[in-house]
Amino acid sequence: MEVNDKLLNTGILIVATLVVAKLISFLIMPRSKKRVPPAVKAWPVIGGLLRFVKGPMVMLREEYPKLGSVFTLNLFNKKITFLIGPEVSSHFFKASESDLSQQEVYQFNVPTFGPGVVFDVDYTIRQEQFRFFTEALRVNKLKGYVDQMVTEAEDYFSKWGDSGEVDLKYELEHLIILTASRCLLGQEVRNKLFDDVSALFHDLDNGMLPVSVIFPYLPIPAHRRRDRARKKLAGIFANIIASRKSAGKSENDMLQCFIESKYKDGRPTTEAEVTGLLIAALFAGQHTSSITSTWTGAYLLRHKEFLSAVIEEQKQIMQKHGNKVDHDILSEMDTLYRCIKEALRLHPPLIMLLRSSHSDFSVKTRDGKEYDIPKGHIVATSPAFANRLPYIYKDPDTYDPDRFSVGREEDKVAGAFSYISFGGGRHGCLGEPFAYLQIKAIWSHLLRNFELELVSPFPEIDWNAMVVGVKGKVMVHYKRRQLSVN
Ligand code: HEM
Repeated sequence: MEVNDKLLNTGILIVATLVVAKLISFLIMPRSKKRVPPAVKAWPVIGGLLRFVKGPMVMLREEYPKLGSVFTLNLFNKKITFLIGPEVSSHFFKASESDLSQQEVYQFNVPTFGPGVVFDVDYTIRQEQFRFFTEALRVNKLKGYVDQMVTEAEDYFSKWGDSGEVDLKYELEHLIILTASRCLLGQEVRNKLFDDVSALFHDLDNGMLPVSVIFPYLPIPAHRRRDRARKKLAGIFANIIASRKSAGKSENDMLQCFIESKYKDGRPTTEAEVTGLLIAALFAGQHTSSITSTWTGAYLLRHKEFLSAVIEEQKQIMQKHGNKVDHDILSEMDTLYRCIKEALRLHPPLIMLLRSSHSDFSVKTRDGKEYDIPKGHIVATSPAFANRLPYIYKDPDTYDPDRFSVGREEDKVAGAFSYISFGGGRHGCLGEPFAYLQIKAIWSHLLRNFELELVSPFPEIDWNAMVVGVKGKVMVHYKRRQLSVN
């Protein structure tokens, strides 16, 4: 009897040990093995790079149908995990900086923006600096900026003749830098130093190449020119700030907001910080807005039904408000808003957003598959790809601004983060209202004062640019005419 009991106890112990061991191994080992995202097939060592340099969009288009919405690319010693679609990308947008951070992946901006700002400072300071942006872009400030945007558009287009042909892309790029200079950098730059400052910005811009993302300090001529330009800009802004302070002058522009901004501990911003933040603002808004205004124009001129709809809207608004255009009047232009939003859905200029992961997390796909993404991965999502998912947007390659009209609102069907041209969540674009106002101010002026026709073929996408835009010229024939309200 005693022997039997002993045997039974030993048996139970063995079984229990096996069960516990199995449980532990299930909880620890196989789980992380089984649930890692599928990997993109590529040759060892440089295979991942070869796939990536063919263009991230080419890679996404090839892999998404095969691997689904979550997959990993091995790029040298780094693993980049792509999260495509609202179901899996929500952690990307919502996670705290300690879980998913921007600092490492956006480090390459530091030599351009300069020391002491944005990605060169730790998150607590960066958050405060983003608060300065938020304050500088509040509605009461935007109201003043809009008046300047309208004046800039009127002045700019008054230089066009009665009729002629222009490269719309060049024209809008130019107008947007003039407007941004006035609203953001201030009237000293806009009125006296515009040529110098825009040449220096040009050097900064040309100093941000694909190679700069990996080797931002590589001693190449473009980087040397960038560094020289950065120093000269710092000198110019130091003078402007000093003269504003000594004259006790206060202007309505972002420069003034940054001069007056204070950290929580009461410390005012330094001249170097103000310069860095202004450069960051210009970089965030310049190409993105000018590209979007060009695409909006190209689509409106190709799709006469939407062109007629925005013209009709202008007529109605003119009936109500006459020729006046201000912040509140621009805010009434819903049809134009949807036309811009749809151009931006099809062509988000920032095609890839990145984070660095500091803790493991899991995602669940639409079809219920779960994956664990280990810390140490770079995590990526792509507005350019996600904005064309056919289960969110009906006929996703078709330009159809009405998909955002009340009742359809396709962007809301799949929940938050299905429309991600402006990012979203924790790091959503702070300049979105500014960008819309700027583009609306330009297009309402054009629609009211010109008849326009696209005379070159519909433009293609320039995938090679850092901020992905319009390839080649966009030739437009214009004829001056006053929009009649009757
Ligand atoms: C059509 C125009 C624009 C587009 C498409 C755009 C797009 C974006 C996107 C996608 C992000 C998120 C980046 C990420 O999550 O990694 C972002 C962030 C940001 N944008 Fe914009 N942007 C535009 C215009 C502007 C303008 C005009 C400004 C300022 C005047 C601006 C200032 C910012 C800032 C400060 C952030 C960082 C927010 C944060 O990290 O908390 N943007 N933008």
